[in-house]
Parts: sequence; structure tokens; C-alpha cells
Amino acid sequence: MNEITIRSYDESDEEQVVELWREVFPDSPAHNISQEDIRRKLAVQRELFLVACRGDELVGTAVAGYDGHRGWVYYVATSPRFQRQGIGSMLMHRVESDLADMGCPKLNLQVRASNHEVVTFYKSLGYQVEERVSMGKLLKDHS
Ligand SMILES: CC(C)(COP(=O)(O)OP(=O)(O)OC[C@H]1O[C@@H](n2cnc3c(N)ncnc32)[C@H](O)[C@@H]1OP(=O)(O)O)[C@@H](O)C(=O)NCCC(=O)NCCS
Repeated sequence: MNEITIRSYDESDEEQVVELWREVFPDSPAHNISQEDIRRKLAVQRELFLVACRGDELVGTAVAGYDGHRGWVYYVATSPRFQRQGIGSMLMHRVESDLADMGCPKLNLQVRASNHEVVTFYKSLGYQVEERVSMGKLLKDHS
């Protein structure tokens, strides 16, 4: 029962996912925002919303997407009690493999510049820091 399995998100995972994100993301969004993020993801490439489970317990997440040019991944998280046991790496390997199967040539991700531990995590998986300016714009809310 200690085995970790990676599978696509199921609606019954919502409570555990929201709780995990609240626990691990310092500026974690309010519950209703997380639920909105989940709802939007389920409408687009929902199979790329991955969860790591240990029995019935949800211990990790990764939310990926492919736009036809690049893959992106968000919400990569491991429950604090299970960190440094390879679960984050398992999730990222599964994301990479699923995206590669879709023909995606490159995976991008963003990390807060101050989050050195997470940069170390991604470097351990072969990611390199690329000098870019990250830009964004809020679009009209279609919710
Ligand atoms: C980043 C995160 C997902 C890593 O998950 P994890 O399951 O602990 O990762 P792994 O066990 O697969 O770690 C693989 C390697 O990454 C590096 N690493 C992971 N966490 C690290 C940390 N806190 N400090 C330094 N190196 C770290 C190590 O090299 C580690 O190998 P090792 O344990 O043999 O030394 C997890 O720390 C987390 O959920 N953080 C909070 C959420 C977050 O900030 N997510 C990133 C959003 S961009």
C-alpha cells in the first residue's frame, strides 16, 4: 500500500487537491479560486491534470498543458510529509512522457526567482534557467 501511483485527476480528488495546494503554496489562492482553476483545467486537456496517490491518500499534483508549440506545467506539488521521496520527480517524468507522446518538443515552466529549492528540484531533472522576461496580462473573465 506504500506504492505511489500517478493517474489523471478524478472529480472525487477535489477536496484533497485544494487542501494540498493550500498547504504547499505560500500565496495559495482561496478555496474558491482553486476550485475555479480545477474547473477550467477539466475543460481543457483534463488528462494532463495528474495526481500522485498512495492508496486513497492524494500526495502530489501536476497540471500540464500543450498549446501546439510548447508544453507548460503548473501546480507541481508534493505533500510536505512525502517530500524528498521522489514523488515530484515521478510526476514530472509522467508529464514529460505524456507531452512527448502528444508530439510536444519542449516543456517550459515558471518558478518564483526567490524559490531556490524549487530551482534545485527542476535542475535535478535537467531543466535549465533561461534568461527571459516573464510577461502576463489578465484577460476578460469568462467564468
Ligand atoms: C518542489 C517539490 C514539488 C519537489 O517535490 P519532491 O517530491 O520533494 O521532489 P523529489 O523527492 O522528486 O526531489 C528530487 C530532487 O530535487 C531536489 N530537491 C527537491 N526538493 C528540494 C529542496 N527542498 N531543497 C533542495 N533540493 C531539493 C533534490 O535534488 C532531490 O533529490 P534528493 O532528495 O535525492 O536530494 C516540493 O518541494 C513541493 O511541493 N514544493 C512546494 C510547492 C512548489 O513550490 N512547487 C513548485 C511550483 S513551480
